[in-house]
Parts: sequence; C-alpha cells; structure tokens
Amino acid sequence: MDTLQKKILCPSILNLSTDNMREEVEKLDATDMDIYHVDIMDGTFVPNFGMSVRELEMIRRITDAGHHKLVDCHMMVMNPHRYIKRIAEAGADIIYIHPESELIPSATLELIQLEGKKTGLILNPCTSLETVKDMLPITDYVMIMAVNPGFAGREFMPYTRQKFIELDNYRKEKGLNYHLMLDGGATREVIADLYHNCNVEGFVLGKQELFFQQDDYATCIDRIRTF
Ligand code: DX5
Ligand code: ZN
Repeated sequence: MDTLQKKILCPSILNLSTDNMREEVEKLDATDMDIYHVDIMDGTFVPNFGMSVRELEMIRRITDAGHHKLVDCHMMVMNPHRYIKRIAEAGADIIYIHPESELIPSATLELIQLEGKKTGLILNPCTSLETVKDMLPITDYVMIMAVNPGFAGREFMPYTRQKFIELDNYRKEKGLNYHLMLDGGATREVIADLYHNCNVEGFVLGKQELFFQQDDYATCIDRIRTF
C-alpha cells in the first residue's frame, strides 16, 4: 500500500450500555463510520463476557434499515468454527478469529469463505507474524490487538507497534492485499502514528475518541478522519 487509504473507522459497540443500545446505534449509523465492531466472548478464551449474537442481529437490522454499514464480529471464543454459520446468518460481513482459539485456524477461515463472508485474523499482543503468515493469502483483514483482549478501555501497549510494521512490510513483500487494523487503545496519538507511519488503515474506536465525548458521534468521527 503506497498511497494513503481512507481510514476504516470501526466503533466498538461493547462500549454501549444495553439500556440504550438501539438509539445509540441509530445515531452512529447516521455518521461517516464504516464498520460496527462486535465483540463476542465466551468467558473461557478471555476472562469476560461480551456481546451476544442477538445484539449482532439487532445491529444488522438497524443498519439494513438505515445507512447500510458493514458489521464485523470479533470472536473471542474457543473453537469458533462451531459458530461461524450462526454468526454469518446473524449478519456479520467480516468474521475475525484468533489463531490460537482453533487447532486448525486455516479450516475456520475456509468456513468463513464458504459462508460468503470476509475473513479476519486477529492477533493478540503475544501472537507473532510467524504464527499466521501461511494463512495471510486467504485473509482479508488482519487486526492487531494493542491491549490484552477481553476488556474495553485499556491502554495501547507500545511494544505492539513493531507488529504493525512487520505485517505492513510482509504485505508489501508478498504483494498481499489484507487490510491492516488496530483493536484497543486508539487515542488520537496512536491513530495518527499508525496511519501515517505504519500504513494501518482501520481503527476500532472506544471511549478514547468516540464514546463518552463532549461532542456528538458525527463530530468525533469527522475529527478522527483529520488525525
Ligand atoms: C477488547 C475488545 C475491543 C475493545 C477495544 O478485547 O476487542 O474491541 O473495545 O478497546 P478500546 O476500548 O481500547 O478501543
Ligand atoms: Zn475487539
């Protein structure tokens, strides 16, 4: 990727309370955001519970009736192959799996392709390029976690920056086209650095720049595009 791509902005819906999720998603939908980021957790792969398939279905319905955004599903569950069909039917356009959650992650990526969905690999801070590089030719999105997974609102861990550089270099070296994305700790400084210096295109947005701000969502999204 030699030219600067438009940023792919992905609000992390985990930041919303279920009390007013519908109204807040409707507000997000009217902005220039790109992809809803939906975190599903099983309490085993990570020590927490996140969102559910039913919430994913609701987001799908809202955006189908609204501005037709994409929806991703970040599966923090053991053996996610058991649920790919269900998640695809619920309306995810992109399905991210963690390579260490499966004995044969390449087979799970194939399952995602068979469902007609985009494939995503998501790398924990401790997961190396070496672990996933053979699967990159069948991967549409590579998301790197800059925080330990399972919780929103954690701080970007600077040692993860090197992995963005490695994944960008590998993409160029092999002529691959996967999108490079960040999950976790996306502050203004982090977004600007990774976008301008490491060719990272996509950013999961949490409370650092999008939720619980003084400005409304549209203003925040427009501002993030200027970083
Ligand atoms: C954490 C989740 C994230 C989380 C990102 O395990 O995968 O999507 O919301 O964190 P922040 O809040 O830092 O963007
Ligand atoms: Zn996530």
